[in-house]
Amino acid sequence: MESQKIIAVVGATGAQGGSLVNAILNDRKSNFKVRAITRNANSEKSMELKRKGAEVVEADLDDQQSLVKAFEGAYGAFCVTFFWEHFSPEKEKQQAKNMAEAAKEAGIKHVIWSTLEDTRKWIPLDDDRMPTLMNYYKVPHLDAKGESNKYFEDSGVPYTLLHTSFYWDNFINFGMAPQKGADGELYLTFPMADKKLPGIAAEDIGKSAYGIFKAGDKYMNKSVGIAGEHLTGDQMATTFSEVYGKKIRYNAVEPAVYRTFDFPGADDLGNMFQFKADFEGEYCKARDVENTRKLDPELLSFKQWLQNNREKMKV
Ligand SMILES: NC(=O)c1ccc[n+]([C@@H]2O[C@H](COP(=O)([O-])OP(=O)(O)OC[C@H]3O[C@@H](n4cnc5c(N)ncnc54)[C@H](OP(=O)(O)O)[C@@H]3O)[C@@H](O)[C@H]2O)c1
Repeated sequence: MESQKIIAVVGATGAQGGSLVNAILNDRKSNFKVRAITRNANSEKSMELKRKGAEVVEADLDDQQSLVKAFEGAYGAFCVTFFWEHFSPEKEKQQAKNMAEAAKEAGIKHVIWSTLEDTRKWIPLDDDRMPTLMNYYKVPHLDAKGESNKYFEDSGVPYTLLHTSFYWDNFINFGMAPQKGADGELYLTFPMADKKLPGIAAEDIGKSAYGIFKAGDKYMNKSVGIAGEHLTGDQMATTFSEVYGKKIRYNAVEPAVYRTFDFPGADDLGNMFQFKADFEGEYCKARDVENTRKLDPELLSFKQWLQNNREKMKV
């Protein structure tokens, strides 16, 4: 279709961007077509995207002019940063700025910025409920995204601030699957106490973003929060138990203990879970499930997601 508008997708070979690419390519009657952005157009993942029908172009978030070229002629751009590749909030902010300015220069008509809360609005740096990290942040990988909203708000390009949720895919990809404790029992471990954690299947992030683009100007210059379900640790453990047919318990460790776990970013994630637990009401309210379903009628529940992905985890 000649009249199809181009959506340029950052992170097209990754979870969020990849899910938007799939959502558009799987819609045979789409008014949109995909321009997948990657640093390497010859990688296996890029070749796969070409085979599926995407245009694939190279750009790097550190190189603004490469982004301008990749955005030129596109109607929309989906922008996301990759904190866990470098662990630097400063770099994340610079990359967000590069994307916002490139969107302006390229004449993008609608940009979706995948963001999260700047937790310092709720917990100022001098609040000692949780430690300050990297001198200026409470939750570096959230704060840097929230702080970067201003680049999109000030860019003059119609924008949507897309507040995503914890992806359930973390159970597969982020080492969060249930594990045996010292007592030989299986435990799901994260510090949310008895509070609800908004979660979503990564594939539904792209489908929701697609819904936002399809809605035209409805969500322009607005914030949209998305989630598939809001569940407590106990509720998730119960669903794990049902799907795997064995008892899995929720281990509600304290955030202070989680921060000491031996993996990179444990302090950042410990603070993140504490923030989500302490501000459960506001955090959940900003991620309405029924509104998400309007954007993405195929929105998965946690149980559906787990059943679809059962074989990907050894539990
Ligand atoms: N896990 C969660 O629960 C969760 C929830 C909310 C938000 N987030 C946020 O989501 C972000 C990660 O998104 P994701 O999960 O979609 O990432 P991902 O699956 O790890 O994908 C990483 C992608 O980033 C691209 N990339 C990395 N550096 C780049 C650069 N300098 N220029 C251009 N492309 C670059 C890579 O593409 P190529 O190698 O092909 O270039 C790769 O496909 C993080 O910032 C995280 O904080 C995560």
